[in-house]
Amino acid sequence: MGSVTHTSDTRIVLGIESSCDETAVALVRGDRTIIAQAIASQEAEHAPYGGVVPEIAARAHAERLAPMLAKVMSEAGLGLDDVDAIAATAGPGLIGGVMVGLVSAKALAMASGKPLLAINHLEGHALSPRLADDALAFPYLLLLVSGGHCQILAVEGVGQYRRLATTIDDALGEAFDKTAKILRLGYPGGPAVERLALEGDPKAVPLPRPLKGSAEPHFSFAGLKSAVLRAVESGAHKPADIAASFQQAAVDCLLDRLGYALTRAGPFPALVVAGGVAANQTVRAALENFAEKHAMRFTAPPLALCTDNAAMIAWAGCERLALGGNHAAGDSLDFVARPRWPLDPEAETVRGAGVKA
Ligand code: KG4
Ligand code: ZN
Repeated sequence: MGSVTHTSDTRIVLGIESSCDETAVALVRGDRTIIAQAIASQEAEHAPYGGVVPEIAARAHAERLAPMLAKVMSEAGLGLDDVDAIAATAGPGLIGGVMVGLVSAKALAMASGKPLLAINHLEGHALSPRLADDALAFPYLLLLVSGGHCQILAVEGVGQYRRLATTIDDALGEAFDKTAKILRLGYPGGPAVERLALEGDPKAVPLPRPLKGSAEPHFSFAGLKSAVLRAVESGAHKPADIAASFQQAAVDCLLDRLGYALTRAGPFPALVVAGGVAANQTVRAALENFAEKHAMRFTAPPLALCTDNAAMIAWAGCERLALGGNHAAGDSLDFVARPRWPLDPEAETVRGAGVKA
């Protein structure tokens, strides 16, 4: 426990990510070097539908993945012989896309004789701050906020995650996306809401803070979204004020629930944020401030590592290789893609629980 390690680890992992709307490939070395990477967003394909269409996503992953693999390998000047393991997201996510990435990884593993590492996408997010920050040791308190998930976890080690809170309805990224849709800002919504909020007054529109102060440890964002809809329909507010007020309400909920998690499971030496919503500057600033107040170190991955990417998947593979033994031996080529795959298998199921549709 507490070790930071791998500063001289020269093993190389090829990582593949395809669980949502980014096709991504990366080569990462155990000493935290991202040797090469490529990422192709499907924004343009999904934009006309205002959200991710699973069939379109799976087809786009299938078309792009092989040429991207070839490009990344040739850019790095490496062959499969130089790689120590093949890591791919094996869930949770949109099953068609996950299968494209996982099956490709299986084929590469079979052809090269290298181990297959079936990675939980959420574990990729959870460990990504350690790729960016070589001084970040276990344990840490993790706020995982993405399009599909909103959770607080105690990260005690690689593969050791204790869920302290989750959402009982929408994920925070989903709430950002729905707010963007209501405000007709288009897809993807999070960055658009953040941009518009810059011009608005965060105190202008009274919006609820669902579950704030509640003895239930969880999050809820469905009521906030409905309140945004009512605020828009009332015609009484400027869109920028609604965006800023929504963002402020979301931040207030995050801080309240983190404070509660600390009183129940703390203290922790570090607070870490990961997932797509961690790209939001207002969210980051508020968390940094919160961490300072609670005498915690604060780490947030650089923006490119917050949203979906393959470097975090390859890095999760590096972390497993560094553990050695069974962890490093690899998964069976029979490993089945998992549309649902909780990080903490012991955590009780919570209704809704932020499942990306
Ligand atoms: O982690 P991610 O790339 O994919 C999932 O695994 O879900 O997260 C995507 C989510 C989307 O809901 C997107 O709107 C949100 O992250 N997001 C943001 C920002 N950038 C991405 N939300 C708020 N502000 C942002 N700047
Ligand atoms: Zn993600």
